[in-house]
Amino acid sequence: MLQLAVVLPTYKERANIAPMVARLDAALTGLAWEAIFVDDNSPDGTSDEIRRIAQADPRIRVIERIGRRGLASAAIEGMCATAAPIVAVMDADQQHDPELLPRMYAVVSTDECDVAYASRFAEGASTEAWGRPDRVKASGMANSIARRVTGVDLSDPMSGYFMLPAKILRADAHRLSGVGFKILLDILATVDAPLRIKEFPLNFTARTEGESKLDRTVVLEFLIGLYDKWLGRIIPTRFALFGTVGALGVAVQFAGLWAMLHLLLGERFIYGHWSSNTAFNVANTVAAIFAMTFNFVLNNEFTYADKRLRGFGPLLRGWLKFALTCSLGLLTNVGSAAALKAMGFHAVVAVLVGIVLGSVWNFALSSRFVWGKY
Ligand code: GDD
Ligand code: MN
Repeated sequence: MLQLAVVLPTYKERANIAPMVARLDAALTGLAWEAIFVDDNSPDGTSDEIRRIAQADPRIRVIERIGRRGLASAAIEGMCATAAPIVAVMDADQQHDPELLPRMYAVVSTDECDVAYASRFAEGASTEAWGRPDRVKASGMANSIARRVTGVDLSDPMSGYFMLPAKILRADAHRLSGVGFKILLDILATVDAPLRIKEFPLNFTARTEGESKLDRTVVLEFLIGLYDKWLGRIIPTRFALFGTVGALGVAVQFAGLWAMLHLLLGERFIYGHWSSNTAFNVANTVAAIFAMTFNFVLNNEFTYADKRLRGFGPLLRGWLKFALTCSLGLLTNVGSAAALKAMGFHAVVAVLVGIVLGSVWNFALSSRFVWGKY
């Protein structure tokens, strides 16, 4: 009877597969186990290497995903692809010590706890051999933000090494976000039933083969995910990003205006008396275009990171469309403020409502017209 499935997401881990399988084999003697590698069509031939080993060892399986990427979603798919009653997830790059698996299995299979996980920051754990003090620090920060936002109180909620009964996972699999690296955190923050969790101190070692895939995009996805959990239902994430970029744009326009007036007027520039001058109009127009371009670049980089426009042609076309959208947004902005003011509302209220309406308009239009399929 199959007892345990170990799910190992891989991306460009060719050189780690054979040693990883050997270490699993050594650690799991006496258990009926299988290992499911979930590979995102790695260009280095990782899946071929897994198939080569699986030919001779039916305990080894591979799921090859095409046109998809992501550690968390790979882990979910692997956990849903087994008949084993208990599933574990771990990194395939040998940074996670497989010796912990039988000890985790002992407590999960006897129902001593629901989830066993390996912590890099528990009493008795160590990150010394990792050799990445920068990452230790960043993980500590990510962990404390995650704890605050999700209420999951573990020493290492960002851990990618854990074990639980498959049925707990399957019951809520459809509600998991599947984005980024935070798979354990995702499970703990999603499953409603209170879970009994047992921590295993981990000696997190350095990578010897290949390199880490945790990059800027993964960090951004992490922050977006936290926001989504926190306020996402009230103000949608993408609109919040768009709004934040817009607010930065306001600051950029002021800074640009100030700098240009300094350049144009030199000594004659007097703070607070800008409007009496034609230089103001020229400078403000240039500053507005500059700020709008800044917004376009930031939205392209962050708000629509998943639909990012690349290359000179698409960027120029996108910028022109964005300019068009913004000028219509400006009309909405100024127009609604004028109408409200005429209706007797306080000027500040009128301006604020104008800004919100203008931004909603810009957002609605640019999400389809600039970054969407129109
Ligand atoms: N299928 C698939 N798709 N696997 C991936 C992907 C992906 O897009 N990205 C990474 N992996 C696999 C790697 O091949 C490796 O086996 C495992 O996921 C961990 O990835 P690393 O790139 O080695 O992560 P790390 O060592 O920098 O990050 C560690 O710390 C994180 C939290 O700080 C890991 O332990 C993570 O699991 C952990 O979340
Ligand atoms: Mn790693």
